[in-house]
Amino acid sequence: MTTAEHGLTEEDLHGVFDETIATDQRIEPRDWMPEAYRKTLIRQIAQHAHSEIIGMQPEGNWILRAPSLRRKSILLAKVQDEAGHGMYLYAAAETLGVDREELTEKLIDNKQKYSSIFNYPTLSYADVGVIGWLVDGAAICNQVPLCRCSYGPYARAMIRICKEESFHQRQGYELLLAMVNGTDEQRAMVQESTNRFWWPSLMMFGPPDGDSPNTQQSMDWGIKRHTNDELRQRFVDMTVPQAEALGVTLPDEGLVWNETRGHYDFSEPDWTEFKAVISGSGPCNAQRLAHRRRAHEEGAWVREAAQAYATKQREGSA
Ligand SMILES: [Fe+2]
Ligand SMILES: [Fe+2]
Repeated sequence: MTTAEHGLTEEDLHGVFDETIATDQRIEPRDWMPEAYRKTLIRQIAQHAHSEIIGMQPEGNWILRAPSLRRKSILLAKVQDEAGHGMYLYAAAETLGVDREELTEKLIDNKQKYSSIFNYPTLSYADVGVIGWLVDGAAICNQVPLCRCSYGPYARAMIRICKEESFHQRQGYELLLAMVNGTDEQRAMVQESTNRFWWPSLMMFGPPDGDSPNTQQSMDWGIKRHTNDELRQRFVDMTVPQAEALGVTLPDEGLVWNETRGHYDFSEPDWTEFKAVISGSGPCNAQRLAHRRRAHEEGAWVREAAQAYATKQREGSA
């Protein structure tokens, strides 16, 4: 429907949009929205979908080497969930007028990003536990507020995703509990893995607020509800007692309870490393993209077959 059909000017439509945001209602695909809002959402949802899909690789690496059938089935279910998250999110992005195929092309051509965390390698089975605990834990902190995002399809996808993410975090923590109650060698594995994943997990919240120019606009639009630094603080406060319960040391000497603030103080992550990883020079960037590209090419026949089948079905019913 065109603007003229409604007899509304662009200014009127903008007013309706602003009112919807101000009253904390949801913007739906049929609604008028500013082009910049649409573009921001497409970029954010695509980046999020890509992260779910690329995020299958570091843990997928351990499926064939899981230490027991039980561990294998848990890990398999978790990695499959991540694929599902990617699908919900690509579907949410498609309601904004982009094509999933186009987004995948952008990912494999290195034109769209995904979370920096997945560019680190998984070196031991303890990483499966630590990723569930810290990486899915950080994802939950980031994603719970997105359940109230102003864009309806994204908010609804996030509700379902968050339920599954909390299962992911628990399975990780349960694995770590088993390991810390095991042998000295297992405890050392958990500590070593925590040392590697702690800082990259803090970086998952993005650059410090002073270095995050788009945050304010996203908050005004009700896409983001908290700043990067607020979420990072929430994650640290939530994680310290969990680390204590596991008997694991978080690798930061600056990590201390601040009575006045009522929060833990902690050191600054290495933002130079963060920028390097984001811009493609992390330990696994090239490997992750090459793997994704190969999977996409090898899956071409499946997409063609599905397309041919759908066409046939349509013709049949016509
Ligand atoms: Fe996920
Ligand atoms: Fe997850």
